[in-house]
Amino acid sequence: MNPAVVRPFGRDDLPGAAAALIKVHETDGYPVEGVEDPDAWISSDDVLAAWVAEMDGDVVGHVAVMRPHGEAAVALWMEQSGADESHVAVLGRLFVVQAARKHATGRRLTEAAMSYGREHDLRLVLDVMAKDAPAMRLYERLGWHKIGETTHHFGDGQGIPAVCYVAPGA
Ligand SMILES: CC(C)(COP(=O)(O)OP(=O)(O)OC[C@H]1O[C@@H](n2cnc3c(N)ncnc32)[C@H](O)[C@@H]1OP(=O)(O)O)[C@@H](O)C(=O)NCCC(=O)NCCS
Repeated sequence: MNPAVVRPFGRDDLPGAAAALIKVHETDGYPVEGVEDPDAWISSDDVLAAWVAEMDGDVVGHVAVMRPHGEAAVALWMEQSGADESHVAVLGRLFVVQAARKHATGRRLTEAAMSYGREHDLRLVLDVMAKDAPAMRLYERLGWHKIGETTHHFGDGQGIPAVCYVAPGA
């Protein structure tokens, strides 16, 4: 298998990224809120920057850096560090299709987002569902620290345990 190329998200990547997201939802139940409108979920107004992983012409992975939008991890980090929200951003929308996993694609996507955070003086935080153990191992390998736990609310009053992380400092 050729290694995936990680590069900035381009306008033409949306259909491929949406197709990849639908596959990931089938295999992993991510995102828990479902994929009724994958295009809107991927290209939300909160996205500051995004990257895709491409392999043999197909989008096989994606990650975004997003402006804060009420995430528990943002509130926790601001409370614990005294940071101003203008210097905090959220790593989100990370996924790699099952067939392309375990080749460091997730790591390289996460590193692209982390470089962006450092370059723009934005401390990255995230909420990850406690069930998504491979994602938590990935963040911890890259030096992210656990800053607390929360419940991710979605749908019609449903809730699922989640863990909040902050990226390593500069
Ligand atoms: C989390 C996720 C993005 C990781 O993607 P990935 O491309 O498999 O990530 P990596 O390859 O960097 O790391 C995954 C594993 O492969 C291993 N690996 C990486 N390169 C390898 C190689 N060349 N040979 C063998 N193993 C390798 C890593 O050590 C890691 O091992 P671990 O699972 O025991 O910790 C993917 O599992 C996913 O999309 N999950 C569903 C969605 C999700 O949970 N998203 C996170 C939301 S917060």
